[in-house]
Amino acid sequence: MNIQQGKFITLEGSEGVGKTTNVDSVCQTLDDLSISYVRTREPGGTPMAETLRENMLAEWDESVNGLTELFIAFAARLQHVQGVIRPALVSGKWVVCDRFTDASYAYQGYGRGLDLEKIAVLEEWVHGDLQPDLTLYLDLDPEVAALRIANRERDRMEQEQMSFFHKVRQGYLARAAADARFRTVDASLPLVDVQRAVCLQVKEFVGFHRQGVS
Ligand code: TMP
Repeated sequence: MNIQQGKFITLEGSEGVGKTTNVDSVCQTLDDLSISYVRTREPGGTPMAETLRENMLAEWDESVNGLTELFIAFAARLQHVQGVIRPALVSGKWVVCDRFTDASYAYQGYGRGLDLEKIAVLEEWVHGDLQPDLTLYLDLDPEVAALRIANRERDRMEQEQMSFFHKVRQGYLARAAADARFRTVDASLPLVDVQRAVCLQVKEFVGFHRQGVS
């Protein structure tokens, strides 16, 4: 039986949107509110899942099928959900996760063009009864994002064409428009304003939750 007591917060967005810094802001806000949480990421979060992440992002002397990426992401996710996310939530801790299944829809579904219904089958299979309670989507034009990471060393995904990242963005926007758990934050604003917006969203969510349980 799964009696979830903690809340599950995810952050999403393309590379270059400042996701890591904003995960820091979410964690700082929870610290300020004395909420105990586990910070984690996908793909990854367990030793085996981190190795799967390395495989997924590495460059290979062969073309990597989008479906292979999808299976790696969900294999890592299963380890992560079972070994880290679910135990934390059941014990009453919150979970702050840098990416989750929305990334599989955005990157492999919209970006690679895989069938969304097939992704939904894997989602149901791997964590049908577990969904994020709040998803902060950091939205930014991929052309602007690319300029921000121009001097950074790029992994296999980050070397994709600009058209790929436009599709990924369309995917995120479509999902954000369809599900009330999403809050879209304009990541083109100066970083301090983005952090302020993220912090406000988390505070609002915590306030709503505390009201709901009091
Ligand atoms: P990052 O989160 O550190 O930017 O890197 C993770 C990369 O993995 C990023 O390019 C998005 C990609 N990814 C997928 O393609 N599918 C997934 O399901 C997940 C979680 C990530």
